[in-house]
Amino acid sequence: MTHLLVLSHIQTRPLLQAREASRHRVEVSPDLGLTTVEVVIEPTGVRFPNGESLRWEAIEEISASENNCFVVEDGEPRKIQVFSEFTNLLYSLMPTCKAPAMLVSGMPMHRIKGTDPYHDTLEKIRTVKPIVGRVLDTATGLGYTAIEAAKTADHVVTIELDPAALEIARLNPWSRDLFDNPQITQRIGDSYDLIEEFDDQTFTRIIHDPPAFSLAGHLYAGEFYVELNRVLRRGGRLFHYVGNPESKSGGNITRSVIRRLQEAGFSRVVRRPRAFGVLAFK
Ligand SMILES: C[S@@+](CC[C@H](N)C(=O)[O-])C[C@H]1O[C@@H](n2cnc3c(N)ncnc32)[C@H](O)[C@@H]1O
Repeated sequence: MTHLLVLSHIQTRPLLQAREASRHRVEVSPDLGLTTVEVVIEPTGVRFPNGESLRWEAIEEISASENNCFVVEDGEPRKIQVFSEFTNLLYSLMPTCKAPAMLVSGMPMHRIKGTDPYHDTLEKIRTVKPIVGRVLDTATGLGYTAIEAAKTADHVVTIELDPAALEIARLNPWSRDLFDNPQITQRIGDSYDLIEEFDDQTFTRIIHDPPAFSLAGHLYAGEFYVELNRVLRRGGRLFHYVGNPESKSGGNITRSVIRRLQEAGFSRVVRRPRAFGVLAFK
Protein backbone atom coordinates (compact mmCIF):
# COMPACT_ATOMS: atom_id res chain seq x y z
CA MET A 1 0.00 0.00 0.00
CA THR A 2 1.36 3.46 -0.89
CA HIS A 3 1.06 6.20 1.67
CA LEU A 4 0.90 9.96 1.19
CA LEU A 5 3.99 11.97 2.13
CA VAL A 6 3.57 13.55 5.55
CA LEU A 7 6.24 16.07 6.53
CA SER A 8 7.10 18.76 9.06
CA HIS A 9 9.96 21.21 9.45
CA ILE A 10 11.88 18.44 11.24
CA GLN A 11 12.05 16.48 7.97
CA THR A 12 12.37 19.39 5.53
CA ARG A 13 15.04 21.62 7.15
CA PRO A 14 17.79 19.02 6.47
CA LEU A 15 16.73 19.16 2.78
CA LEU A 16 17.52 22.88 2.71
CA GLN A 17 20.87 22.18 4.38
CA ALA A 18 21.63 19.47 1.80
CA ARG A 19 20.94 21.93 -1.02
CA GLU A 20 23.19 24.47 0.70
CA ALA A 21 25.96 21.83 0.87
CA SER A 22 25.45 20.99 -2.86
CA ARG A 23 24.62 17.36 -2.08
CA HIS A 24 22.92 15.18 -4.72
CA ARG A 25 21.13 12.74 -2.47
CA VAL A 26 20.00 12.78 1.15
CA GLU A 27 18.04 10.55 3.55
CA VAL A 28 14.70 11.89 4.71
CA SER A 29 11.67 10.50 6.47
CA PRO A 30 8.49 10.50 4.35
CA ASP A 31 6.29 9.75 7.40
CA LEU A 32 7.17 12.02 10.34
CA GLY A 33 10.16 9.97 11.42
CA LEU A 34 8.82 6.42 11.22
CA THR A 35 10.96 5.34 8.24
CA THR A 36 13.57 6.89 5.94
CA VAL A 37 14.10 6.97 2.18
CA GLU A 38 16.75 8.54 -0.07
CA VAL A 39 15.67 11.55 -2.11
CA VAL A 40 17.36 13.09 -5.13
CA ILE A 41 18.22 16.81 -4.90
CA GLU A 42 17.35 18.62 -8.12
CA PRO A 43 17.56 22.31 -9.11
CA THR A 44 13.78 22.73 -8.78
CA GLY A 45 13.23 20.60 -5.67
CA VAL A 46 13.60 17.04 -4.38
CA ARG A 47 12.33 13.77 -5.87
CA PHE A 48 11.14 10.93 -3.64
CA PRO A 49 11.56 7.26 -4.67
CA ASN A 50 7.77 6.94 -5.18
CA GLY A 51 8.07 9.56 -7.96
CA GLU A 52 6.56 12.42 -5.92
CA SER A 53 8.41 15.73 -6.31
CA LEU A 54 8.43 18.65 -3.92
CA ARG A 55 9.43 22.15 -5.07
CA TRP A 56 11.87 24.23 -3.03
CA GLU A 57 9.10 26.82 -2.37
CA ALA A 58 6.99 24.06 -0.79
CA ILE A 59 9.96 22.82 1.24
CA GLU A 60 10.57 26.37 2.48
CA GLU A 61 6.88 26.76 3.40
CA ILE A 62 6.92 23.55 5.48
CA SER A 63 10.28 24.47 7.06
CA ALA A 64 8.90 27.83 8.22
CA SER A 65 6.01 26.26 10.14
CA GLU A 66 7.00 24.94 13.58
CA ASN A 67 3.52 23.97 14.77
CA ASN A 68 2.07 22.14 11.79
CA CYS A 69 2.49 18.92 9.85
CA PHE A 70 1.71 18.80 6.14
CA VAL A 71 0.37 16.15 3.80
CA VAL A 72 1.70 16.36 0.22
CA GLU A 73 -0.74 15.63 -2.59
CA ASP A 74 0.34 16.05 -6.23
CA GLY A 75 3.39 17.99 -5.07
CA GLU A 76 1.33 20.48 -3.05
CA PRO A 77 1.65 20.64 0.75
CA ARG A 78 -1.53 21.06 2.76
CA LYS A 79 -1.61 21.80 6.50
CA ILE A 80 -3.10 18.92 8.47
CA GLN A 81 -5.92 20.74 10.21
CA VAL A 82 -9.68 20.30 10.32
CA PHE A 83 -12.33 22.66 11.64
CA SER A 84 -15.08 20.69 13.33
CA GLU A 85 -18.58 21.99 12.60
CA PHE A 86 -19.77 19.58 15.26
CA THR A 87 -17.81 21.05 18.18
CA ASN A 88 -16.60 24.36 16.64
CA LEU A 89 -13.03 23.36 17.48
CA LEU A 90 -9.96 23.40 15.23
CA TYR A 91 -7.99 20.13 15.21
CA SER A 92 -4.40 20.05 13.98
CA LEU A 93 -1.26 17.93 14.10
CA MET A 94 1.85 19.34 15.76
CA PRO A 95 5.28 17.84 15.08
CA THR A 96 7.63 16.67 17.83
CA CYS A 97 10.89 14.72 17.67
CA LYS A 98 8.81 11.49 18.00
CA ALA A 99 5.06 10.99 17.43
CA PRO A 100 3.13 14.20 16.66
CA ALA A 101 0.67 15.69 19.12
CA MET A 102 -2.91 16.72 18.40
CA LEU A 103 -3.87 20.33 19.13
CA VAL A 104 -7.51 21.15 19.76
CA SER A 105 -7.96 24.90 19.22
CA GLY A 106 -4.34 25.32 20.25
CA MET A 107 -4.53 23.06 23.35
CA PRO A 108 -2.20 20.04 23.20
CA MET A 109 -4.00 16.72 23.76
CA HIS A 110 -0.71 15.00 24.55
CA ARG A 111 2.19 15.96 26.79
CA ILE A 112 4.94 17.81 24.96
CA LYS A 113 6.85 19.57 27.78
CA GLY A 114 9.84 17.51 28.95
CA THR A 115 8.49 14.46 27.12
CA ASP A 116 6.72 13.61 23.85
CA PRO A 117 3.41 11.95 22.94
CA TYR A 118 5.09 8.56 22.38
CA HIS A 119 6.71 8.40 25.84
CA ASP A 120 3.60 10.00 27.36
CA THR A 121 1.57 7.08 25.98
CA LEU A 122 4.03 4.49 27.34
CA GLU A 123 3.77 6.07 30.82
CA LYS A 124 -0.03 5.90 30.73
CA ILE A 125 0.00 2.28 29.56
CA ARG A 126 2.63 1.27 32.14
CA THR A 127 0.26 2.18 34.98
CA VAL A 128 -2.25 -0.53 33.99
CA LYS A 129 0.16 -3.27 32.93
CA PRO A 130 -0.24 -6.13 32.31
CA ILE A 131 -2.83 -5.20 29.72
CA VAL A 132 -4.93 -8.30 29.24
CA GLY A 133 -8.49 -9.13 28.22
CA ARG A 134 -10.87 -6.47 26.92
CA VAL A 135 -9.85 -2.83 27.18
CA LEU A 136 -11.99 0.31 27.02
CA ASP A 137 -10.26 3.49 25.80
CA THR A 138 -12.69 6.35 26.44
CA ALA A 139 -11.03 9.04 24.25
CA THR A 140 -9.45 7.91 20.98
CA GLY A 141 -7.66 11.11 19.91
CA LEU A 142 -4.78 9.97 17.72
CA GLY A 143 -5.29 6.40 18.91
CA TYR A 144 -1.91 6.09 20.60
CA THR A 145 -3.25 4.57 23.83
CA ALA A 146 -5.57 2.22 21.90
CA ILE A 147 -2.73 1.10 19.60
CA GLU A 148 -0.33 0.47 22.49
CA ALA A 149 -2.99 -1.38 24.53
CA ALA A 150 -3.89 -3.57 21.52
CA LYS A 151 -0.33 -4.95 21.48
CA THR A 152 -1.18 -7.27 24.40
CA ALA A 153 -4.95 -7.01 24.97
CA ASP A 154 -7.47 -9.43 23.47
CA HIS A 155 -9.50 -6.49 22.17
CA VAL A 156 -9.73 -2.71 22.53
CA VAL A 157 -12.89 -0.61 22.17
CA THR A 158 -12.05 3.07 21.67
CA ILE A 159 -14.54 5.96 21.64
CA GLU A 160 -14.11 9.36 19.96
CA LEU A 161 -16.64 12.18 20.13
CA ASP A 162 -15.48 14.24 17.18
CA PRO A 163 -15.08 12.80 13.64
CA ALA A 164 -12.63 15.68 12.98
CA ALA A 165 -10.17 14.08 15.41
CA LEU A 166 -10.34 10.87 13.38
CA GLU A 167 -9.79 12.80 10.13
CA ILE A 168 -6.54 14.07 11.63
CA ALA A 169 -5.63 10.57 12.85
CA ARG A 170 -6.22 9.17 9.32
CA LEU A 171 -3.47 11.45 7.99
CA ASN A 172 -1.06 10.69 10.84
CA PRO A 173 1.42 7.91 9.98
CA TRP A 174 1.82 7.15 13.72
CA SER A 175 -1.94 6.37 13.94
CA ARG A 176 -2.09 3.79 11.12
CA ASP A 177 -2.73 0.81 13.39
CA LEU A 178 -5.87 2.49 14.68
CA PHE A 179 -7.39 1.80 11.26
CA ASP A 180 -5.45 -1.37 10.34
CA ASN A 181 -5.51 -3.44 13.53
CA PRO A 182 -8.62 -5.68 13.63
CA GLN A 183 -8.25 -5.95 17.41
CA ILE A 184 -9.34 -2.32 17.74
CA THR A 185 -13.03 -1.40 17.43
CA GLN A 186 -13.77 2.30 16.95
CA ARG A 187 -16.98 3.90 18.16
CA ILE A 188 -18.04 7.47 17.46
CA GLY A 189 -20.02 9.28 20.13
CA ASP A 190 -19.86 10.67 23.63
CA SER A 191 -18.27 8.20 26.06
CA TYR A 192 -20.66 9.52 28.70
CA ASP A 193 -23.63 8.17 26.66
CA LEU A 194 -22.08 5.14 24.94
CA ILE A 195 -20.83 3.61 28.19
CA GLU A 196 -24.46 2.77 29.06
CA GLU A 197 -24.48 0.24 26.20
CA PHE A 198 -21.83 -2.00 27.76
CA ASP A 199 -22.78 -4.86 30.09
CA ASP A 200 -21.55 -4.96 33.68
CA GLN A 201 -17.95 -6.16 34.05
CA THR A 202 -17.18 -6.11 30.30
CA PHE A 203 -13.62 -4.76 30.58
CA THR A 204 -10.47 -5.80 32.45
CA ARG A 205 -8.74 -2.45 31.89
CA ILE A 206 -9.99 1.08 31.23
CA ILE A 207 -7.86 3.96 29.95
CA HIS A 208 -9.60 7.25 30.58
CA ASP A 209 -7.63 10.04 28.87
CA PRO A 210 -10.17 12.86 28.47
CA PRO A 211 -9.53 16.44 27.38
CA ALA A 212 -8.92 18.98 30.16
CA PHE A 213 -11.68 19.41 32.76
CA SER A 214 -12.55 22.81 31.22
CA LEU A 215 -13.34 21.15 27.86
CA ALA A 216 -15.16 17.99 29.03
CA GLY A 217 -16.23 18.35 32.69
CA HIS A 218 -18.88 15.61 32.39
CA LEU A 219 -16.11 13.03 31.83
CA TYR A 220 -14.89 13.88 35.38
CA ALA A 221 -18.35 13.58 36.97
CA GLY A 222 -19.23 11.14 39.76
CA GLU A 223 -22.09 9.57 37.77
CA PHE A 224 -19.70 8.80 34.88
CA TYR A 225 -17.23 7.22 37.33
CA VAL A 226 -20.07 4.98 38.61
CA GLU A 227 -20.53 3.76 35.01
CA LEU A 228 -16.76 3.21 34.59
CA ASN A 229 -16.85 1.14 37.77
CA ARG A 230 -19.89 -0.84 36.57
CA VAL A 231 -18.34 -1.89 33.23
CA LEU A 232 -14.99 -2.84 34.86
CA ARG A 233 -14.45 -6.46 35.94
CA ARG A 234 -13.76 -7.20 39.60
CA GLY A 235 -9.95 -7.08 39.94
CA GLY A 236 -9.78 -4.69 36.96
CA ARG A 237 -7.91 -1.39 36.82
CA LEU A 238 -8.64 2.08 35.53
CA PHE A 239 -6.04 4.70 34.58
CA HIS A 240 -7.42 8.23 34.62
CA TYR A 241 -5.25 10.99 33.11
CA VAL A 242 -5.80 14.22 35.03
CA GLY A 243 -2.94 16.65 34.25
CA ASN A 244 0.16 17.95 35.97
CA PRO A 245 -0.33 17.16 39.69
CA GLU A 246 2.21 19.87 40.56
CA SER A 247 0.21 22.67 38.95
CA LYS A 248 -2.36 24.40 41.19
CA SER A 249 -5.38 23.36 39.12
CA GLY A 250 -3.95 19.86 38.41
CA GLY A 251 -3.42 19.29 42.14
CA ASN A 252 -6.97 20.40 43.01
CA ILE A 253 -8.55 18.34 40.23
CA THR A 254 -6.50 15.26 41.22
CA ARG A 255 -7.80 15.48 44.81
CA SER A 256 -11.42 15.79 43.72
CA VAL A 257 -11.04 13.01 41.10
CA ILE A 258 -9.67 10.65 43.79
CA ARG A 259 -12.56 11.45 46.11
CA ARG A 260 -15.21 10.93 43.43
CA LEU A 261 -13.64 7.67 42.22
CA GLN A 262 -13.74 6.35 45.80
CA GLU A 263 -17.37 7.47 46.15
CA ALA A 264 -18.14 5.71 42.85
CA GLY A 265 -17.06 2.39 44.38
CA PHE A 266 -13.39 1.91 43.44
CA SER A 267 -11.71 0.04 46.32
CA ARG A 268 -8.32 1.77 46.10
CA VAL A 269 -7.19 4.87 44.23
CA VAL A 270 -3.50 5.78 44.03
CA ARG A 271 -1.62 8.67 42.44
CA ARG A 272 0.56 8.02 39.43
CA PRO A 273 2.35 11.40 39.12
CA ARG A 274 4.79 10.26 36.40
CA ALA A 275 1.81 9.56 34.16
CA PHE A 276 -0.01 12.74 35.33
CA GLY A 277 -2.96 10.69 36.54
CA VAL A 278 -4.40 8.23 39.03
CA LEU A 279 -4.87 4.47 39.08
CA ALA A 280 -8.08 3.00 40.48
CA PHE A 281 -8.69 -0.64 41.43
CA LYS A 282 -12.01 -2.44 41.56
C1 LIG B 1 -6.46 13.77 25.31
S1 LIG B 1 -7.17 13.28 23.79
C2 LIG B 1 -6.95 11.53 23.84
C3 LIG B 1 -5.59 11.09 23.41
C4 LIG B 1 -5.53 9.62 23.12
N1 LIG B 1 -5.58 8.84 24.32
C5 LIG B 1 -4.33 9.27 22.28
O1 LIG B 1 -3.63 8.32 22.63
O2 LIG B 1 -4.08 9.92 21.25
C6 LIG B 1 -8.87 13.46 24.08
C7 LIG B 1 -9.79 13.09 22.92
O3 LIG B 1 -11.10 12.91 23.44
C8 LIG B 1 -12.03 13.38 22.53
N2 LIG B 1 -13.28 13.65 23.28
C9 LIG B 1 -13.70 14.82 23.82
N3 LIG B 1 -14.85 14.64 24.47
C10 LIG B 1 -15.18 13.33 24.35
C11 LIG B 1 -16.29 12.55 24.78
N4 LIG B 1 -17.25 13.10 25.51
N5 LIG B 1 -16.32 11.24 24.46
C12 LIG B 1 -15.32 10.68 23.72
N6 LIG B 1 -14.25 11.38 23.27
C13 LIG B 1 -14.18 12.68 23.59
C14 LIG B 1 -11.37 14.61 21.93
O4 LIG B 1 -11.95 14.93 20.67
C15 LIG B 1 -9.91 14.14 21.82
O5 LIG B 1 -9.69 13.53 20.58
